[in-house]
Amino acid sequence: MLRINTLGGYFHEYQKSVSNPEDFWSDIAQTFYWRKKWDTTLEWNFEEPKVEWFKGGKLNITENIFERRMFTHADRPAIIWESNSPDEPSITLTYKQLHEKVCQFANVLLKNGVQKGDRVAIYLPMLPEATIAMLACARVGAVHSVVFAGFSANSLSDRIIDAECKLVLTSDGSYRGGKNIGIKTIVDEALERCPTVEKVIVLKRTGEAINMTPGRDVWWHDETEGVSTENKAQEMDSEDMLFILYTSGSTGKPKGVVHTTGGYMVYTQYTFENVFQIDAGDIYWCSADIGWITGHSYIVYGPLLSGSTVVMFEGIPTYPHVGRFWEIIEKHKVTHFYTAPTAIRSLQASGLDPVTPFNLSSLKVLGTVGEPINVEAWQWYHTHIGKGKCPIVDTWWQTETGGMMISPIAGITPTKPAYATLPLPGIQPILVDSEGKELKGNGVEGNLCIKFPWPSMLRTTYGDHERCRQTYFSTYKGLYFTGDGVKRDEDGYYRILGRVDDVINVSGHRLGTAEVENAINEHPLVNESAVVGYPHDIKGQGIYAYVVLEKDGQSHDKDAMKSSIISTVNKIIGPIAKPDKILIVSGLPKTRSGKIMRRILRKIAEGDGSNLGDITTLLNPEVVEEIKVGAGL
Ligand code: PRX
Repeated sequence: MLRINTLGGYFHEYQKSVSNPEDFWSDIAQTFYWRKKWDTTLEWNFEEPKVEWFKGGKLNITENIFERRMFTHADRPAIIWESNSPDEPSITLTYKQLHEKVCQFANVLLKNGVQKGDRVAIYLPMLPEATIAMLACARVGAVHSVVFAGFSANSLSDRIIDAECKLVLTSDGSYRGGKNIGIKTIVDEALERCPTVEKVIVLKRTGEAINMTPGRDVWWHDETEGVSTENKAQEMDSEDMLFILYTSGSTGKPKGVVHTTGGYMVYTQYTFENVFQIDAGDIYWCSADIGWITGHSYIVYGPLLSGSTVVMFEGIPTYPHVGRFWEIIEKHKVTHFYTAPTAIRSLQASGLDPVTPFNLSSLKVLGTVGEPINVEAWQWYHTHIGKGKCPIVDTWWQTETGGMMISPIAGITPTKPAYATLPLPGIQPILVDSEGKELKGNGVEGNLCIKFPWPSMLRTTYGDHERCRQTYFSTYKGLYFTGDGVKRDEDGYYRILGRVDDVINVSGHRLGTAEVENAINEHPLVNESAVVGYPHDIKGQGIYAYVVLEKDGQSHDKDAMKSSIISTVNKIIGPIAKPDKILIVSGLPKTRSGKIMRRILRKIAEGDGSNLGDITTLLNPEVVEEIKVGAGL
């Protein structure tokens, strides 16, 4: 794999990737194992859109993880799993052992009728079996759709229905800190409205009593019993679907972002090795959940393609104590640690006492992802976790981009706190104003777009290509629009400013305001609602919901109403979408055409009741004063 070693090397590679992208990616792709080489490196247009990388190439991504390196890597640890409970021993799987388990489970999938192209839903806790499940799907050519195991039954069924999944992989329960979540019960509820699901394979984790529906539900351990650990991988086309991952947008229900095989493989390994500057013997830990893109690209595919050792953690940062992250770093001698700014801020809030008992001297590189990091959190991470010697890679990317896009290369790109710094090779960012006019040069702020395809970009949104075109390729002609605002400073460095659409980022989790509003509106006593984000010290953004009750609801106790609304959101989406603040109001400020004036609601949520602009043209200007008073302004 082509490895950047110096800043000059970075600029050189970047230049090459822009002036001749096809040769650039072709050279990198050649280091992988293809059963048949591709015919064309790239075909694309951003109008339809159509993007095809390494077309005609035949491969299986798991052969590139396992068979490609088995002679040299067989005994190298692939996964070091750390339990939710520090008292339960950790588990290490070498590449050889992981390979056998993946092959065995691939055979289980085949035995259960899974064929190439079938969709399989994975709703599992952070266990090695989650990785095994994903790779077994890839092995047989099935498309995995991993659903974060914190989502509600309703969210899970929406995703299963949209992708028409045939099979669900889950566990009896899931340990999360002091809690035991009965996730099989959630699956049972979800499947009440999922006619396409034929089988559920259940992993025993907590051992609690669960319902097993005869003819549909089978145990993982029964299914694997006596099954061969050898499996011949399915041959895939470079552009065959590898997975679907649902993510929220400004409108409608979450959409299934589709990633394909060849380009995703090439890009995730390339970016993983270069950004983190991983060497043999390093121990890499990404604390994300496998249910998000970070888990897909940088717990599973990128690191395992590069033959690295990955720590996988089942639990949460604060259980059984707030120093758990640091304890794990000491225990496994982690060299590379990748986490979200939210986690850093919440651990920072506990002070240094939970950090100092642990020896963090193994650390070489620190990373952040998922949301803008504030300067204080960056400094704290750098000084107290990295002890001033570990470069921080602030990596900007998205579910849709498949891999990191703008990021320092560890120890090579000079960093600036809160800046994602420079685009990676192959990434051509462009800033535009609201009319789509390019903002050239440095010292500018605008909407972040990308003007040329990169290998791991989304290909479509599952079952609805027009939605993909509309969402990403229609706002600015000929460009992929990210939805983020960005500043390019005098040095040409990029700082992500946050979303410019109706998407909010709560603790690094992406939510559409419309999605949360729809959930709130499901409450029988709610008439309508408006949701906006507001700055939150720990979560980055919090959820502020303005709610108008039905007549019948108005006599109810306000606190009881608020908790009942929160339970509705938990049920419809999951606890991650729970509003931080609910303000019950008599009406929402609307224009004469009935449009909610979110700008006003955003300002009030930010704690600023002044300069709300001209409100005299509103249909109901009087509610603004009432809302301000209600918000304590
Ligand atoms: O707003 C950006 C923010 O997270 C969004 C993408 O969310 P998601 O698809 O869930 O993927 C998160 C993990 C890759 C982006 O549109 N974001 C992501 N990374 C950063 C970031 N904002 C600022 N700095 C980052 N490093």
